Amino acid sequence: MPDEFGAAWSLHRGDALDVYVEWPSPSMIVSDGAYGVGGFPGDPRTPEDLAAWYAPHIEHWSKYALPATTLWFWNTEIGWANVHPLLVSGGWEYVQTITWDKGINHIAGNVNGDTIRRFPVATEVCVFYRRRLEFETPRGVMPAKRWLRYEWQRAGLPLCRANEACGVANAATRKYLTQDWLWYFPPPEMMKRLVSYANRHGDPQGVPYYCLDGNTPVTSSEWSRLRHAWTHAHGLTNVWVAPPLHGNERLKGNGVRSAPRVHRPGPNAAVHLNQKPLEFMRRVVTAATSPGDVVWEPFGGLCSASVAAISAGRRAYAAEIVDRFAVMAAERLAFADETQVATSWP
Ligand SMILES: C[S@@+](CC[C@H](N)C(=O)[O-])C[C@H]1O[C@@H](n2cnc3c(N)ncnc32)[C@H](O)[C@@H]1O
Repeated sequence: MPDEFGAAWSLHRGDALDVYVEWPSPSMIVSDGAYGVGGFPGDPRTPEDLAAWYAPHIEHWSKYALPATTLWFWNTEIGWANVHPLLVSGGWEYVQTITWDKGINHIAGNVNGDTIRRFPVATEVCVFYRRRLEFETPRGVMPAKRWLRYEWQRAGLPLCRANEACGVANAATRKYLTQDWLWYFPPPEMMKRLVSYANRHGDPQGVPYYCLDGNTPVTSSEWSRLRHAWTHAHGLTNVWVAPPLHGNERLKGNGVRSAPRVHRPGPNAAVHLNQKPLEFMRRVVTAATSPGDVVWEPFGGLCSASVAAISAGRRAYAAEIVDRFAVMAAERLAFADETQVATSWP
């Protein structure tokens, strides 16, 4: 359904590498690509080959990301470990790991002579990254925490005057200019006060203070664009317990609610072995984007992240290289767009 931001979704039936250049910059990238287990055509057989597989994609993500873009990287633990150094060198900063605990039933029938001599694996991970935020100064590149204090001190102002600047008794110095772990990123309205105070009361020799472009002090809206959205979901931790997808939501060969016109062989076989629970995708989308934001899903499969994004009023840009999956994903996306209602959690 088109809205004031344009079309709600776009699906490329082909290689994501061919379309990154055409997609609008993302607020969020959900990556659920190769696992290094030979799981789909083109998935390397071993996790050691994953860095080479992801390299061209990470290059594009890093190039087109905004300062506030987040990345949610699904994989096995060892698969992620192989790709992590590449992400870091592409400017992605680790935030946290979410562990999907699929439960003991996932183990049944999943054993061989090697895996029987270790603790059974019942997990996958989704690793959350953001862009590393750094500021150039004559004293070198600084993270936000150091830069805020550096600029204040460059203005020749005592740290405690940040409280006067922000109109509070004592919290501003402690929260925004501290160098310890209790530091907070100043919200835009507080940053506006700090910037205006430093430029009005600071040493006139050093103006302007708090510039991103070397000429003009940062505005509150520029400042707010440096940090991703975050909507807290009470009671949710970084361990998500749910069995592998089953029930109504799992697309089967004999048709599903959301794509009734597609013919599929094998009435009870899952269409795609890697289909992710919509509820998981809904959690990441609603936590770290706002309505109207752009979500990229370069390795679409059945495009679960895009379905969740559309249902939550975001705009989805997906690609799927296997045409059989892309056809089904397109129907699923169209259905999500028509109804704008997320499939309920079983
Ligand atoms: C792990 S599955 C994604 C499953 C998806 N999250 C879902 O819930 O349905 C990865 C998918 O990426 C597709 N793929 C792999 N390389 C791709 C590429 N370069 N461009 C687009 N799709 C690709 C594969 O065909 C496969 O369907």
